[in-house]
Amino acid sequence: MDLGLRGKKAIVTGATKGIGRAIVELLAAEGADVGFCARSEEEVEETAKSLQARGVNVVGGPVNVRDGEAYKAWLEKTAAELGGCDIFVPNVSAGGGMDSEKNWWKNFEIDVLHTVRGCEALMEHLKKSGSGSIVMISSTNAIETFAAPMAYNAMKAALITYGKQLSQFVGRHNVRVNTVCPGPIYFEGGAWEMIKNTQQKFYDATLRAMPNGRFGTPEEVARVVAFLASPAASLVTGANVVADNGFTKGVRF
Ligand SMILES: NC(=O)c1ccc[n+]([C@@H]2O[C@H](COP(=O)([O-])OP(=O)(O)OC[C@H]3O[C@@H](n4cnc5c(N)ncnc54)[C@H](OP(=O)(O)O)[C@@H]3O)[C@@H](O)[C@H]2O)c1
Repeated sequence: MDLGLRGKKAIVTGATKGIGRAIVELLAAEGADVGFCARSEEEVEETAKSLQARGVNVVGGPVNVRDGEAYKAWLEKTAAELGGCDIFVPNVSAGGGMDSEKNWWKNFEIDVLHTVRGCEALMEHLKKSGSGSIVMISSTNAIETFAAPMAYNAMKAALITYGKQLSQFVGRHNVRVNTVCPGPIYFEGGAWEMIKNTQQKFYDATLRAMPNGRFGTPEEVARVVAFLASPAASLVTGANVVADNGFTKGVRF
Protein backbone atom coordinates (compact mmCIF):
# COMPACT_ATOMS: atom_id res chain seq x y z
CA MET A 1 0.00 0.00 0.00
CA ASP A 2 1.30 3.45 -0.90
CA LEU A 3 0.80 5.72 2.11
CA GLY A 4 1.12 8.82 -0.06
CA LEU A 5 3.80 10.35 2.19
CA ARG A 6 6.29 11.21 -0.57
CA GLY A 7 6.89 14.97 -0.65
CA LYS A 8 4.83 15.63 2.50
CA LYS A 9 6.39 17.94 5.08
CA ALA A 10 6.39 16.58 8.62
CA ILE A 11 7.42 18.19 11.93
CA VAL A 12 8.10 15.87 14.87
CA THR A 13 9.20 16.98 18.36
CA GLY A 14 11.69 14.96 20.42
CA ALA A 15 13.04 12.85 17.60
CA THR A 16 16.65 11.93 18.34
CA LYS A 17 15.79 8.81 20.38
CA GLY A 18 13.14 6.20 20.95
CA ILE A 19 9.69 6.52 19.43
CA GLY A 20 10.26 10.00 17.94
CA ARG A 21 13.45 8.84 16.23
CA ALA A 22 11.68 5.80 14.76
CA ILE A 23 8.89 8.08 13.48
CA VAL A 24 11.24 10.47 11.62
CA GLU A 25 13.29 7.59 10.20
CA LEU A 26 10.13 5.95 8.84
CA LEU A 27 8.61 9.18 7.50
CA ALA A 28 11.90 9.97 5.73
CA ALA A 29 12.10 6.41 4.37
CA GLU A 30 8.61 6.96 2.92
CA GLY A 31 9.86 10.10 1.16
CA ALA A 32 8.60 12.83 3.51
CA ASP A 33 10.69 15.92 4.26
CA VAL A 34 11.26 16.13 7.99
CA GLY A 35 11.71 18.85 10.61
CA PHE A 36 12.53 17.74 14.13
CA CYS A 37 13.96 18.90 17.45
CA ALA A 38 15.53 17.74 20.72
CA ARG A 39 17.63 19.54 23.34
CA SER A 40 21.02 17.95 22.63
CA GLU A 41 22.66 19.75 19.68
CA GLU A 42 25.06 16.87 19.12
CA GLU A 43 22.24 14.32 18.86
CA VAL A 44 20.26 16.62 16.57
CA GLU A 45 23.26 16.76 14.21
CA GLU A 46 23.72 12.97 14.26
CA THR A 47 20.00 12.39 13.57
CA ALA A 48 19.94 14.97 10.76
CA LYS A 49 22.85 13.20 9.02
CA SER A 50 21.09 9.85 9.25
CA LEU A 51 17.86 11.28 7.80
CA GLN A 52 19.62 13.20 5.01
CA ALA A 53 21.11 9.92 3.81
CA ARG A 54 17.55 8.95 2.85
CA GLY A 55 17.53 11.74 0.23
CA VAL A 56 14.86 14.00 1.74
CA ASN A 57 14.99 17.59 3.02
CA VAL A 58 15.81 17.67 6.73
CA VAL A 59 15.61 20.58 9.16
CA GLY A 60 16.85 19.69 12.65
CA GLY A 61 17.14 22.14 15.51
CA PRO A 62 18.04 22.15 19.20
CA VAL A 63 15.18 23.57 21.28
CA ASN A 64 13.57 22.90 24.65
CA VAL A 65 9.82 22.68 23.99
CA ARG A 66 9.15 23.85 27.55
CA ASP A 67 10.37 27.32 26.54
CA GLY A 68 7.18 28.49 24.80
CA GLU A 69 8.63 31.44 22.89
CA ALA A 70 11.74 29.62 21.67
CA TYR A 71 9.62 26.60 20.72
CA LYS A 72 7.08 28.64 18.70
CA ALA A 73 9.91 30.50 16.93
CA TRP A 74 11.52 27.16 16.10
CA LEU A 75 8.24 25.78 14.69
CA GLU A 76 7.74 28.83 12.45
CA LYS A 77 11.34 28.73 11.23
CA THR A 78 11.16 24.99 10.56
CA ALA A 79 7.87 25.25 8.62
CA ALA A 80 9.33 28.13 6.59
CA GLU A 81 12.48 26.15 5.77
CA LEU A 82 10.49 23.06 4.82
CA GLY A 83 8.09 25.17 2.73
CA GLY A 84 4.99 24.32 4.81
CA CYS A 85 3.72 21.61 7.14
CA ASP A 86 1.36 18.73 6.31
CA ILE A 87 2.02 16.55 9.36
CA PHE A 88 2.65 17.44 13.00
CA VAL A 89 3.61 14.88 15.65
CA PRO A 90 4.09 16.40 19.13
CA ASN A 91 5.99 13.57 20.78
CA VAL A 92 7.96 15.04 23.71
CA SER A 93 6.91 14.11 27.24
CA ALA A 94 8.17 15.06 30.67
CA GLY A 95 7.80 11.39 31.68
CA GLY A 96 6.52 10.02 34.96
CA GLY A 97 7.29 11.00 38.53
CA MET A 98 5.66 11.49 41.89
CA ASP A 99 7.32 14.74 42.96
CA SER A 100 3.93 16.37 43.63
CA GLU A 101 3.42 19.86 42.16
CA LYS A 102 6.76 19.88 40.37
CA ASN A 103 5.62 16.97 38.18
CA TRP A 104 2.14 18.44 37.62
CA TRP A 105 3.61 21.69 36.24
CA LYS A 106 6.24 19.87 34.19
CA ASN A 107 3.75 17.43 32.65
CA PHE A 108 1.27 20.25 32.00
CA GLU A 109 3.86 22.51 30.36
CA ILE A 110 5.55 19.78 28.35
CA ASP A 111 3.01 17.04 27.57
CA VAL A 112 -0.06 19.27 27.23
CA LEU A 113 1.09 22.80 26.47
CA HIS A 114 3.80 21.90 23.97
CA THR A 115 1.15 19.93 22.05
CA VAL A 116 -1.39 22.78 22.18
CA ARG A 117 1.19 25.45 21.30
CA GLY A 118 2.42 23.37 18.38
CA CYS A 119 -1.09 22.78 17.00
CA GLU A 120 -1.86 26.49 17.24
CA ALA A 121 1.44 27.63 15.74
CA LEU A 122 1.23 25.22 12.79
CA MET A 123 -2.54 25.29 12.15
CA GLU A 124 -2.44 27.75 9.23
CA HIS A 125 0.18 25.58 7.50
CA LEU A 126 -1.88 22.43 8.19
CA LYS A 127 -5.02 24.06 6.79
CA LYS A 128 -3.16 25.12 3.64
CA SER A 129 -1.95 21.54 3.17
CA GLY A 130 -5.33 20.18 2.09
CA SER A 131 -4.40 16.90 3.84
CA GLY A 132 -3.18 18.19 7.21
CA SER A 133 -2.70 15.60 9.93
CA ILE A 134 -1.82 15.81 13.61
CA VAL A 135 -0.88 12.69 15.57
CA MET A 136 -0.55 13.25 19.32
CA ILE A 137 1.38 10.78 21.45
CA SER A 138 -0.52 9.73 24.57
CA SER A 139 -0.01 6.50 26.57
CA THR A 140 -1.93 3.48 27.83
CA ASN A 141 -1.36 5.09 31.26
CA ALA A 142 -4.13 7.51 30.23
CA ILE A 143 -6.76 4.84 29.65
CA GLU A 144 -6.09 2.36 32.47
CA THR A 145 -4.72 2.80 35.98
CA PHE A 146 -0.98 2.28 36.08
CA ALA A 147 1.61 2.28 38.86
CA ALA A 148 0.56 5.40 40.81
CA PRO A 149 -1.60 8.56 40.57
CA MET A 150 0.98 10.40 38.46
CA ALA A 151 0.56 13.75 36.68
CA TYR A 152 1.92 11.97 33.57
CA ASN A 153 -1.13 9.68 33.39
CA ALA A 154 -3.67 12.50 33.83
CA MET A 155 -1.95 14.85 31.37
CA LYS A 156 -1.72 12.10 28.74
CA ALA A 157 -5.51 11.64 29.21
CA ALA A 158 -6.02 15.38 28.59
CA LEU A 159 -4.40 14.97 25.17
CA ILE A 160 -7.00 12.41 24.09
CA THR A 161 -9.91 14.76 24.89
CA TYR A 162 -8.14 17.75 23.35
CA GLY A 163 -7.33 15.78 20.20
CA LYS A 164 -10.93 14.61 19.77
CA GLN A 165 -12.37 18.11 20.18
CA LEU A 166 -9.75 19.67 17.92
CA SER A 167 -10.60 17.10 15.23
CA GLN A 168 -14.21 18.36 15.18
CA PHE A 169 -13.09 21.96 15.07
CA VAL A 170 -10.62 21.73 12.18
CA GLY A 171 -12.21 18.93 10.14
CA ARG A 172 -13.80 21.40 7.72
CA HIS A 173 -10.29 22.49 6.76
CA ASN A 174 -9.34 18.89 5.94
CA VAL A 175 -7.09 18.65 8.97
CA ARG A 176 -7.34 15.29 10.76
CA VAL A 177 -6.39 14.86 14.42
CA ASN A 178 -5.72 11.50 16.10
CA THR A 179 -3.95 10.21 19.20
CA VAL A 180 -1.87 7.08 19.67
CA CYS A 181 -1.53 5.29 23.01
CA PRO A 182 1.61 3.15 23.05
CA GLY A 183 1.94 0.53 25.76
CA PRO A 184 5.34 -0.15 27.34
CA ILE A 185 8.01 0.26 24.63
CA TYR A 186 11.52 -1.08 25.21
CA PHE A 187 14.67 0.32 23.61
CA GLU A 188 18.28 0.85 24.59
CA GLY A 189 18.61 4.03 26.62
CA GLY A 190 14.84 4.26 27.17
CA ALA A 191 12.75 4.37 30.35
CA TRP A 192 12.07 0.62 30.38
CA GLU A 193 15.75 -0.25 30.19
CA MET A 194 16.25 1.98 33.23
CA ILE A 195 13.32 0.28 35.01
CA LYS A 196 14.75 -3.14 34.13
CA ASN A 197 18.03 -2.18 35.79
CA THR A 198 16.52 -0.54 38.87
CA GLN A 199 13.08 -2.11 39.53
CA GLN A 200 13.35 -5.72 38.36
CA LYS A 201 10.07 -6.88 39.99
CA PHE A 202 8.04 -4.10 38.40
CA TYR A 203 9.68 -4.77 35.03
CA ASP A 204 8.93 -8.52 35.27
CA ALA A 205 5.29 -7.90 36.28
CA THR A 206 4.86 -5.56 33.29
CA LEU A 207 6.35 -8.15 30.96
CA ARG A 208 3.98 -10.81 32.32
CA ALA A 209 1.02 -8.57 31.37
CA MET A 210 2.00 -8.87 27.68
CA PRO A 211 0.09 -11.80 26.15
CA ASN A 212 3.03 -12.69 23.90
CA GLY A 213 5.67 -12.01 26.54
CA ARG A 214 7.54 -9.11 24.95
CA PHE A 215 7.60 -5.32 24.99
CA GLY A 216 6.76 -3.23 21.94
CA THR A 217 9.45 -1.50 19.89
CA PRO A 218 9.66 2.15 18.73
CA GLU A 219 9.45 0.96 15.11
CA GLU A 220 6.08 -0.74 15.77
CA VAL A 221 4.65 2.51 17.19
CA ALA A 222 6.15 4.49 14.30
CA ARG A 223 4.26 2.37 11.75
CA VAL A 224 0.92 3.22 13.42
CA VAL A 225 1.83 6.91 13.57
CA ALA A 226 2.97 6.98 9.93
CA PHE A 227 -0.31 5.43 8.77
CA LEU A 228 -2.46 7.87 10.77
CA ALA A 229 -0.31 10.79 9.58
CA SER A 230 -0.64 9.75 5.94
CA PRO A 231 -3.35 10.45 3.36
CA ALA A 232 -4.00 6.67 3.39
CA ALA A 233 -5.85 7.23 6.70
CA SER A 234 -8.14 9.85 5.13
CA LEU A 235 -11.25 8.56 6.96
CA VAL A 236 -9.63 8.36 10.38
CA THR A 237 -10.00 11.43 12.56
CA GLY A 238 -10.80 11.95 16.25
CA ALA A 239 -9.60 8.41 16.94
CA ASN A 240 -7.46 7.21 19.81
CA VAL A 241 -5.48 4.23 18.57
CA VAL A 242 -4.06 1.87 21.19
CA ALA A 243 -0.78 0.20 20.15
CA ASP A 244 0.07 -1.80 23.26
CA ASN A 245 0.70 -5.45 22.31
CA GLY A 246 -2.30 -6.45 24.45
CA PHE A 247 -1.02 -4.74 27.62
CA THR A 248 -4.36 -3.09 28.53
CA LYS A 249 -7.18 -5.33 29.74
CA GLY A 250 -10.29 -3.13 29.52
CA VAL A 251 -13.01 -3.86 26.97
CA ARG A 252 -13.85 -0.69 25.02
CA PHE A 253 -16.81 -0.50 22.66
N1 LIG B 1 8.69 4.51 26.02
C1 LIG B 1 7.50 4.05 26.38
O1 LIG B 1 7.35 2.94 26.94
C2 LIG B 1 6.27 4.89 26.12
C3 LIG B 1 5.01 4.33 26.38
C4 LIG B 1 3.88 5.09 26.15
C5 LIG B 1 3.99 6.38 25.66
N2 LIG B 1 5.22 6.90 25.42
C6 LIG B 1 5.28 8.26 24.90
O2 LIG B 1 6.00 8.27 23.68
C7 LIG B 1 6.71 9.51 23.54
C8 LIG B 1 8.19 9.22 23.30
O3 LIG B 1 8.69 8.48 24.38
P1 LIG B 1 10.15 7.84 24.36
O4 LIG B 1 10.18 6.84 25.45
O5 LIG B 1 10.54 7.48 22.98
O6 LIG B 1 11.00 9.15 24.85
P2 LIG B 1 12.55 9.35 25.12
O7 LIG B 1 13.36 8.15 24.92
O8 LIG B 1 12.61 10.01 26.44
O9 LIG B 1 12.93 10.38 23.96
C9 LIG B 1 12.51 11.65 24.04
C10 LIG B 1 13.03 12.50 22.88
O10 LIG B 1 12.56 13.82 23.15
C11 LIG B 1 13.66 14.71 23.36
N3 LIG B 1 13.26 15.62 24.45
C12 LIG B 1 13.03 15.30 25.75
N4 LIG B 1 12.64 16.40 26.43
C13 LIG B 1 12.65 17.43 25.55
C14 LIG B 1 12.34 18.82 25.63
N5 LIG B 1 11.96 19.37 26.80
N6 LIG B 1 12.43 19.58 24.52
C15 LIG B 1 12.80 19.05 23.34
N7 LIG B 1 13.10 17.73 23.19
C16 LIG B 1 13.02 16.93 24.28
C17 LIG B 1 14.86 13.80 23.69
O11 LIG B 1 16.12 14.37 23.35
P3 LIG B 1 16.90 15.35 24.38
O12 LIG B 1 17.00 14.61 25.68
O13 LIG B 1 18.22 15.62 23.73
O14 LIG B 1 16.07 16.58 24.50
C18 LIG B 1 14.54 12.60 22.78
O15 LIG B 1 14.89 12.88 21.45
C19 LIG B 1 6.43 10.29 24.82
O16 LIG B 1 5.35 11.16 24.62
C20 LIG B 1 6.05 9.21 25.82
O17 LIG B 1 5.24 9.69 26.87
C21 LIG B 1 6.36 6.19 25.63
